[in-house]
Amino acid sequence: MSTRSAVHSKAFTPGRLGQLELRNRVIKAGTYEGMCPRGLPSDALIRHHRDLAAGGVGMTTVAYCAVSPNGRTFEDQMVMSPKLVPRLKVLTDAVHAEGAAVSLQLGHCGAFSRNAELPGRRSLGPSAQFNEYGFMSGIMFSKAMTEHDIADIVDDFGTAAAGAVRAGFDAVELHMGHGYLLSQFISPAINQRQDRWGGSLDNRMRLPLTVVERVREAVGPKFPIVAKTNLRDGFKGGLEVRESIGVALRLEAAGVNALELIGGFTSKTPMYLLRGERPLKEMIAVEKSWAQKLVLAVLGRAVIKEYPFKEMFFLKHARKIRKAVRMPLVLLGGIVSLQNLETAMQEGFEFVAMGRALIADPDLIDRMRRGEVTRSRCTACNKCVAEMDRNGVRCVLDD
Ligand SMILES: Cc1cc2nc3c(=O)[nH]c(=O)nc-3n(C[C@H](O)[C@H](O)[C@H](O)COP(=O)(O)O)c2cc1C
Repeated sequence: MSTRSAVHSKAFTPGRLGQLELRNRVIKAGTYEGMCPRGLPSDALIRHHRDLAAGGVGMTTVAYCAVSPNGRTFEDQMVMSPKLVPRLKVLTDAVHAEGAAVSLQLGHCGAFSRNAELPGRRSLGPSAQFNEYGFMSGIMFSKAMTEHDIADIVDDFGTAAAGAVRAGFDAVELHMGHGYLLSQFISPAINQRQDRWGGSLDNRMRLPLTVVERVREAVGPKFPIVAKTNLRDGFKGGLEVRESIGVALRLEAAGVNALELIGGFTSKTPMYLLRGERPLKEMIAVEKSWAQKLVLAVLGRAVIKEYPFKEMFFLKHARKIRKAVRMPLVLLGGIVSLQNLETAMQEGFEFVAMGRALIADPDLIDRMRRGEVTRSRCTACNKCVAEMDRNGVRCVLDD
């Protein structure tokens, strides 16, 4: 019999996401799994989320499901379609059997894509731009979306969200951060449009808000919609907190059920969203293209800026959103200990999300609750990022 006693924390009590009750306030943040060869959810993906559910999280998030084929950053990502639904239903059933809820992250990569199957080899974004993320894959420039393209993408988000409901998900998470399409529209640096989709914050928010409206129509009034949105883009001229407060207020007014607060731009400041070591050697090793390997080896240090890891690294900015809105907020970024969970609750966040700490230990929450550990063993080495492109995301501390 264990001599340790159960730990009591508000984080381990039920929390409400709209009408959905989660058994506790810890959400597994979406971390791309790399477990969908040819876009099909594998057994490994199902096991991965079942293990997280069995390990005690309130809700797990299946990362990055593209809403349309041209919304993929690269070829092996899932694209929502009726064909995917039965397989995803196996996954949601497996998570539910362990007592957790499961959300599906829906996204479109917009301008930054290295998807070789992209029609015409031109990615679509708010404005025509050089595609620094995909130029080595032959996708040199993005094209400015037409009204017709925008209407299609809004429809795609709606159709994909309806697919998530049919597949048994408990919530959808709309990716509006990290420099993906909706984040590109919000960003004053990237969105250079002169029409009703660009310029003022009201105009830059028009696409994210139209997507929320369409998704709401598709999922019905009770189904939880979470938006993952940037506090700061993390580069000069990008979104800053004074505007992200306006983003949050508009999403709250639009009836989004919770905001998951984050920052950074995958194509420009990838380490700003992670912090910690830059796993260049490992990224070069798993890179399939020789040209890309060379670019990473020669330019990697210069173009991928490193930011030191700090616990709760977005708390300072997230507090400003906490003061501005009443809706549930999810604090994310560098949450690694029981103390961090407590601080987040004391600061008024309804939920916390954890990425790397739960990649390192899927059962961290149960072990914290049982009093066996007080912090994650994650060292922010970020080698899990390279593992994603090898055989699927995992912690290298297990080697
Ligand atoms: C391996 C890996 C893959 C990731 N993939 C995604 C993703 O697909 N979608 C997303 O929104 N964030 C992704 N992220 C970012 C995480 O959701 C999270 O914002 C970030 O890791 C900071 O949280 P943490 O300090 O708890 O890890 C990824 C992070 C890692 C480490």
